[in-house]
Amino acid sequence: MKENLVTIPRWFDRHLHIRDGGMMRTVLSCTLKQRATGAVIMGNLKHPDETSTIQNTLSYRKRILNELQDLPSGELFGLGQKFKLCMTLYLTDDISPEEVVRGFKEGVWRAVKLYMANQKGQGGTTGSAHGVKNLLGRYPVFEAMEKHKIPLLGHFEAVEEDVDEFDREIVSVYRDLKPILESFPELPVVFEHLTDGRAADFVAEVDHDIYATVTAHHLMINRNTMFWGGMNPGHYCKPVPKRETHRAKVRQYVTSGNRRFGAGTDSAPHDESVKSRCYGCAAGIFTSPTAVELYTMTFDEDNALQHLGPFLSENFLALYGMEVSSETMTIERGTLVVPQKIGGVQVFKGGTELPWKLVG
Ligand code: DOR
Ligand code: ZN
Repeated sequence: MKENLVTIPRWFDRHLHIRDGGMMRTVLSCTLKQRATGAVIMGNLKHPDETSTIQNTLSYRKRILNELQDLPSGELFGLGQKFKLCMTLYLTDDISPEEVVRGFKEGVWRAVKLYMANQKGQGGTTGSAHGVKNLLGRYPVFEAMEKHKIPLLGHFEAVEEDVDEFDREIVSVYRDLKPILESFPELPVVFEHLTDGRAADFVAEVDHDIYATVTAHHLMINRNTMFWGGMNPGHYCKPVPKRETHRAKVRQYVTSGNRRFGAGTDSAPHDESVKSRCYGCAAGIFTSPTAVELYTMTFDEDNALQHLGPFLSENFLALYGMEVSSETMTIERGTLVVPQKIGGVQVFKGGTELPWKLVG
């Protein structure tokens, strides 16, 4: 018989973009309403505000805390005060190993986020143009991180123009990631928003302290959905969704309960004007308003609800200094109508119905 109610510990979003300014207020309350106890906060803000220095990171953290203090009472009462911010350093070519360690020791950041850019300064995704151009040049930083067990959160996608868009991830696995793991055997690594079945095999099999976050949208859509009935910017994100066999492979690792895979939404809101422009449509999918329901639906479809709790709320949380929450949340079978837009941002699957609802 199918369960109609699932109760699991409150969860933790291991990869979240909450942006800045007015947008921050809107999207942060979505994550709180979703009962997350905290999140790994991405710092790819508009240049020069990226969280690439201690000062920038502290100042962004302060802006988030102010917002959390200011949230309206009622439904969100108390949740904002307890929300754990796991800040990340936006790694550049410039920051020294000593500064990376200092920021970690002083509790400014909990992990280091690697975005890469090519020699022309073109990044592989939103706000990555000031990321690392010389990966080998960052090995002294990785060495210091290994020594202090500072997690490396990697956006592993090749950024050269001539690499096929759908191969960017797997090219980076063997060219960038593998040598890093071999050179720094004790460095904790999280492979962010994994999409390629071969990358999933690699993460699952390699003998290393390595994990992967997987988004709800990459578990649900393949590359066809970007092109159905005309171009669909709403399904365009980085890494781009892959062919169906890859989606199925990644999903199999996730819903079979492999402990190296955990929930990180990469919920990445963009204003509709930026998202729907014909040329230069921004990459990013906004899932945070219904992330728990989307993941629940996925596990349910695979008859794997017993693995939902670990994936959302347990797997490799210690890496971020988090404990499994002693509070619970409950998801119930029932119809949830997804809003089309929140604060001018198109919501993933907006206007459709989901078969699960977070109820407490
Ligand atoms: O689709 C994406 N959007 N992927 C990323 O890596 C970044 C994100 C964003 O910040 O918009
Ligand atoms: Zn991201």
